[in-house]
Amino acid sequence: MASTENKPANKENTSNWNSIFNPRTGELLGRTASSWALILLFYLVFYCFLAGMFALTMWVLLLSLDDYVPRYRDRVPFPGLVIRPESLDITFNKSDPLKYAQYVQHLESFLQRYNDTEQEKNEDCNRGEYFLQDNTEDMAKKACRFKRSFLSLCSGLSDTNFGYSEGKPCVLLKMNRKDSPISMQYFPSEGRIDKMYFPYYGKKAHENYTQPLVAVKLLLTREDYNKELSVECRVEGSDLRNNDDRDKFLGRVTFRIKVVE
Ligand SMILES: *[C@@H]1O[C@H](CO)[C@@H](O)[C@H](O)[C@H]1NC(C)=O
Ligand SMILES: *[C@@H]1O[C@H](CO)[C@@H](O)[C@H](O)[C@H]1NC(C)=O
Ligand SMILES: *[C@@H]1O[C@H](CO)[C@@H](O)[C@H](O)[C@H]1NC(C)=O
Repeated sequence: MASTENKPANKENTSNWNSIFNPRTGELLGRTASSWALILLFYLVFYCFLAGMFALTMWVLLLSLDDYVPRYRDRVPFPGLVIRPESLDITFNKSDPLKYAQYVQHLESFLQRYNDTEQEKNEDCNRGEYFLQDNTEDMAKKACRFKRSFLSLCSGLSDTNFGYSEGKPCVLLKMNRKDSPISMQYFPSEGRIDKMYFPYYGKKAHENYTQPLVAVKLLLTREDYNKELSVECRVEGSDLRNNDDRDKFLGRVTFRIKVVE
């Protein structure tokens, strides 16, 4: 616009300069100072408005959250059916420590929170009773003790290899019970999770809560080695439906295990 108008007079050397700033009209990039000021003002107001909207939305959202109550608690009372080592295909050579070291390490680090010294800080609860806690005083809830020594042969204390070196591996489950033709030992005995570990009051209120565990020692023998065994674990609990076809994975976990000599 302005630059083309000036072109014949200033020749080629100055024409580029003129398209950026025109000294005659005081236009910068084709706009006057007041025009630029208006544009800046518009964007300033526009972005302030956007930031305000964001802050308001965030504030409303945070107001609706409660630090002490888990927002979604449909499954919270039940520990997930998770196995440790965290693998659905446990294969190792029992004569080769390098092959099972990862499983042993995994179990060992997982059980750190269950160290007897750590768990001494928690309550020694009454077996067979729900550990109900009132909402009195502060919201903090006490947690029941679950010492790793409860897991006996699978605690990693007496047998630091969790049975992997003898070909009788331990697997940890957060569930009630397990059954299978393979003979197994459960720790704590019968593979029960005591009522005292429930209810769970949520992460914030129940900061020291450690999920109760069941350890299973698979008593494999020579005949079981060198083939892939499939093990299914199910929760047999009063409230948990595990035969529901709509959710085949609720309350059960299946994993494969293979031990070679
Ligand atoms: C298992 O490990 C031992 C010792 O390292 C080795 O002699 C044997 O061949 C391994 N077995 C298999 C099936 O790889
Ligand atoms: C747990 O106990 C083991 C062996 O007793 C020890 O090596 C480890 O440092 C302890 N961990 C914690 C977090 O206390
Ligand atoms: C949780 O454990 C910490 C450290 O052991 C302790 O200070 C805190 O009081 C415990 N919380 C509750 C609610 O028992």
